[in-house]
Amino acid sequence: MLSSSRVALLGAALTGLSLVCSVRGAVGGPSNYSFPDGFMFGVATAAYQIEGAWNEDGKGESMWDTFLHKHPDYTPDRSNADVAADSYHKYMDDVAMIKDLGVEYYRLSISWPRLLPNGTDNNISKAGVRYYRKLIKELQSANITPVVTLFHWDLPTPLMDLGGWANPIMVNYFRDYARVAFNLFGDVVKIWTTMNEPHQHCYNGYGSDYFAPAIKSHGVGEYLCIHYILLAHAAAYHLYDQEFRPNQKGKVGITLDAFWAKPKNNSKPEDIEAAERYLQMHVGLFAHPIYSKEGDYPDIARKRVDSISLHEGYTRSRLPTFSPEEVNALRGSSDFFGLNHYTTFLMSPSSWEKTWLIPSLDSDTGVKLEQDAKWIKPGAEWFSIYPQGFRKLINWVTNQYGKEIPIIITENGMSDFGGINDYLRVSYYNEYMAQMLMAIYEDGCNVQGYFAWTLMDDFEWKDGYVSKFGLYYVDFDSPEKTRTPKQSAINYREIVRTRRINFDFIKKPSPAQFNKL
Ligand code: BGC
Repeated sequence: MLSSSRVALLGAALTGLSLVCSVRGAVGGPSNYSFPDGFMFGVATAAYQIEGAWNEDGKGESMWDTFLHKHPDYTPDRSNADVAADSYHKYMDDVAMIKDLGVEYYRLSISWPRLLPNGTDNNISKAGVRYYRKLIKELQSANITPVVTLFHWDLPTPLMDLGGWANPIMVNYFRDYARVAFNLFGDVVKIWTTMNEPHQHCYNGYGSDYFAPAIKSHGVGEYLCIHYILLAHAAAYHLYDQEFRPNQKGKVGITLDAFWAKPKNNSKPEDIEAAERYLQMHVGLFAHPIYSKEGDYPDIARKRVDSISLHEGYTRSRLPTFSPEEVNALRGSSDFFGLNHYTTFLMSPSSWEKTWLIPSLDSDTGVKLEQDAKWIKPGAEWFSIYPQGFRKLINWVTNQYGKEIPIIITENGMSDFGGINDYLRVSYYNEYMAQMLMAIYEDGCNVQGYFAWTLMDDFEWKDGYVSKFGLYYVDFDSPEKTRTPKQSAINYREIVRTRRINFDFIKKPSPAQFNKL
């Protein structure tokens, strides 16, 4: 049920969104473009956010389990993902929902501690293997291709106790885990992503306390995490190349996240420079070592962190250095560019902001982030709607790393506070996908797939169950965790069926109709 203030807000938001529509040049009807043949449509989820069954059948603890049991106040609703959407038991319903959407791909993640309860490959859980086998089999019988992420943030607690990604030994442990996964599931899984959003994970979890493990070793911890997570990615990629690719013939990539960085004032060179600096030090920090011709961290990141560290009195830079062999191992270590995108920020230069920890990736970057008050803010505090940013970002990635590397949008979706009449989410998807189509057809970008985030409402990290991203509504109060399709699910199904966006397929209700909802 929507409260009256929520109705008013949503009504205003819908009016706002039609303003955004006019930027596209069409206010209704089908979009100008249909999706290319072979374009991959999918939906994405992550193990910790949906599976539940946190300690069932011998599953080990992940660092998110441990952290949330220790800090019940971390989320606004004092929640955790012990049960979540209970997909461990309800995976058949999930597959039926995916099938109903008509998509051919499902991006899921393996819970590392469900497969290897201690994190190490000396103990492989039979129940864990059985669960993922059953899930993959169910997907296959529905003609849905699995796309599997190895690490979506739920590190086994025993490995976290050793320092997690700040410890170089993790490169070996990750390679061992990847070997187990490739061995067990590689006969049917042909598309892998090693890591999900290492930037969010390292920046929020090691550089601050916004995410678990909340180490807050700002200025040092996030760079160690970034460094070893990148090396772990490369180790898994080469392992696949050497031991599995000849027989399994699959693809291995990485998923990186990126906000679009829009200069606050387009006519100010310093804002344009700040936006570019932000992109290099956030996306480039991960993408340059892997996708650029030269490899290694971007020059600007190397120079800034080196000189600021020196100035602060450190003997060596807080940003670790790759050996020439490591630069080589990382360069080219991905068969596609997995890109997650949600929102845009306005960028301007700054030498100090009160929200920054000093030193940190933020202060090293020296860019202030804001959002335009005119942009619609439908849910989470960090989230505003600016569809044009998506096209710009896809173009930026293409210009930086070349058209040869296929881009797969591994996540895109909208946060709100719930309900099945999610008309704003319908518009969000229509508008963002329309921008992606323009990037493909008008700008020649090589985007080969799109995964909506997310299949159903789930545990949204810091926001608990308050912020929702699902195409399906989940009644978390019901023992059955009942799932109901939202308007956005019906709309997405139509896009996938027709391979076209029809902006009129789901009509926005008039204010009078709206009040009856
Ligand atoms: C993550 C998801 C998360 C989503 C929305 C991405 O950062 O990969 O796990 O739920 O964004 O916040």
